[in-house]
This record gives sequence, C-alpha cells and structure tokens, in this order.
Amino acid sequence: MKFFIDTANLAQIKEAHDLGILDGVTTNPSLMAKEGVKGNDAIMNHYKTICELVDGGDVSAEVFSTTYNEMIEEGKKLAAIHKNIVVKVPMIKDGVKAIKWFTDNGIKTNCTLIFSAGQAILAAKAGATYISPFIGRIDDSGWDGVQLIEEIAQIYAVQGFKSEILAASIRTPNHIVKCAAAGADVCTSPLDSILGLLKHPLTDIGLAKFVEDAKKM
Ligand code: G3P
Repeated sequence: MKFFIDTANLAQIKEAHDLGILDGVTTNPSLMAKEGVKGNDAIMNHYKTICELVDGGDVSAEVFSTTYNEMIEEGKKLAAIHKNIVVKVPMIKDGVKAIKWFTDNGIKTNCTLIFSAGQAILAAKAGATYISPFIGRIDDSGWDGVQLIEEIAQIYAVQGFKSEILAASIRTPNHIVKCAAAGADVCTSPLDSILGLLKHPLTDIGLAKFVEDAKKM
C-alpha cells in the first residue's frame, strides 16, 4: 500500500518525506485554505513546491470549479504545473465526464468525494487513476468506511477495474491498518496518523530498559 500525506502544509510534507516512506500528497480546497494560500499564482507555486518536495510522487490538486468546461480548463492548467500533478475531480455528473476527457488526453485523475460502491464503479469506468472513498466521514455518519473499501476492492478485483483505491479522510493510525487489510492501494493520512503507527508503550518500555542495560557494558 502506498503512503500519501493529506495536507498542503510544507513542513508536514517535508517531515513525512524525510521519514523515507512518502509516496505522494493529496490536497483539497479546505487544506489549501488552511495554509492561507490565496490567489492563482500563489496556488500554482504552492503545488509546484509540493511536487518538488516529494520528488517523484503523485500530488493531487483539486479543481475549484464544478462545471465540465471549467473543470477541463482548470485541470489542464493544473496538469501543466508539473508532471506529477494528478487532477482531483469531484464525483458529480460533470466530474465523471471531465475524468473521461482527462483520461483520453493522458492526464491523471483522482475522483474525490466517493461515498458508495456505485460511485466507485462510475469513476473506474471513466478511467480515474485514483478514486477516493472518505472513510472518516462515512464513519462519522454512522456507516462503516472500511467496509466500503473492502466492497470496492472486491468489485474492482472481480471486474478488473484499474483505478487505484485511495482511502481518504483517515482519522487514526488504526484506520491505516484496517485500510491496508481491506485492500486499499493507497492511504492518504494526516501526519499525526502516520506517526501514530510508530507508537506502542511496550516499545518505549523495552527501549528504556535496553538503553539502561547498555550503560552497564
Ligand atoms: O482529502 C480529502 C479527505 O482526506 C478529507 O478528510 O478529514 O476532511 O474528512 P476529512
């Protein structure tokens, strides 16, 4: 399973990259706004900086528009920033049409806001490179996000769909573990959840003892 970080924060992207396990980055308008990135030039520069930071990994940049023609124009500009840009498109009717256009024109896409297996099938039919089911938001609404990953993984395997399942809206380290077991191809997580995978109290207790005993030698 590939590890992506779900943020537009450059320091956090650098920290995850320095750990040596980072395969890519996902952003969205909310994450970009959180970093205070404003204006077209600043937005484009920010994506370029992220692409250079992750050095070869895919970087999802989301279109802000919601109509077919606008999404195509915006997506073309985003794709021109760097060869690793993946155009992130919402799961709406015009979005599906736009994904098909990007696919036919050699531009990678990430279909976002996936909440059902039916939506995942449509996005795969349109040729999306990645599809992003929002695990945490599904859990928040009383459903089971990981179960949706399992269902999509099963459908894609049976049907031979090529889109990669990118588990998004990750809230905990355990979400990452469950998504790996459920068949996600990629998990995009906040830095806290990635670093949370490191933690176990027995590791800390064990290391303290080893450090103490090492002093006796
Ligand atoms: O990037 C999309 C997704 O990961 C958003 O997560 O925490 O806002 O539900 P969240």
